[in-house]
Amino acid sequence: MSSLEGKVVLITGGTSGIGEACTEYFARAGAKVVTVSIQTDEGTALAKRLSSEGHACVFRYCDVSKEADVKAAVDLAVATFGRLDVVHSNAGVLRNQKITELTLEDFHLVINVNLLGPVLVAKHAIPVMERQGKGVVCFTTSVAADIGFPEHAVYGASKAALVALMRSLTTDHSPRGVRFVAVSPGTIDTPMLAASCAGWDKPKEELYADVARKIPIQRMGQPIDVARAVAFLVSDEAGFINGSVVHLEGGTLALPPW
Ligand SMILES: NC(=O)c1ccc[n+]([C@@H]2O[C@H](COP(=O)([O-])OP(=O)(O)OC[C@H]3O[C@@H](n4cnc5c(N)ncnc54)[C@H](O)[C@@H]3O)[C@@H](O)[C@H]2O)c1
Repeated sequence: MSSLEGKVVLITGGTSGIGEACTEYFARAGAKVVTVSIQTDEGTALAKRLSSEGHACVFRYCDVSKEADVKAAVDLAVATFGRLDVVHSNAGVLRNQKITELTLEDFHLVINVNLLGPVLVAKHAIPVMERQGKGVVCFTTSVAADIGFPEHAVYGASKAALVALMRSLTTDHSPRGVRFVAVSPGTIDTPMLAASCAGWDKPKEELYADVARKIPIQRMGQPIDVARAVAFLVSDEAGFINGSVVHLEGGTLALPPW
């Protein structure tokens, strides 16, 4: 039996790319999944598809930057399935620009979704987990927290802040049974990545092939690569992994600077 069997899992940004793969992976592993995002059509279709295959999955609209939405998502998981074992705080947005061209609108969007969102998720999920005496929160950060990608200044700052958030939460809340981990993906083939290719002078396929050649493992990541890692990190088998960031980047961070 999978150790995810019967676990109640809340996934934010769960209807596209990495989050969608996690929703499918967890539901198929026997978890009871509440998947949330701002994509109502995609979410409704995903939950319907997984439910029709006999898995437990419900979708709810939730803008993670709105506290009432986040509280309602946590409440829904508890009301529907009786508890909350795992939260994957994964929703994120990317806006590329040089800081000299930054609009405050973009700044607030990136910070509100990528940082305020996980803060609100933690604020509302942790009390439930502490009452249970057990729970795991996994954040999706990015290697943009470690590498100076061009035109990623605010995005990278939002993801680096998430690592600091995760570590401090570990100090405050792990003594009461809550474990914290983060996955830090490199280049993963998702709609977010495809959207970031707009404006480049090469077709997407050529850009992807160039990127793959630069990664030591010679391929880009797929959402399922992240889903498998998250599934392990939140499982009971990973019970001593706490406050850690696991990089999922095919070896990019091992490259020398020349
Ligand atoms: N794709 C990559 O190469 C890559 C690399 C590193 C980190 N990441 C991170 O992985 C996570 C998932 O990204 P992805 O590549 O799957 O992107 P994606 O665009 O395919 O999916 C993003 C998801 O977040 C949701 N979302 C956006 N704004 C939201 C909001 N306000 N409230 C709730 N949900 C919202 C979207 O609806 C969608 O479901 C993000 O945090 C992203 O920063 C991605």
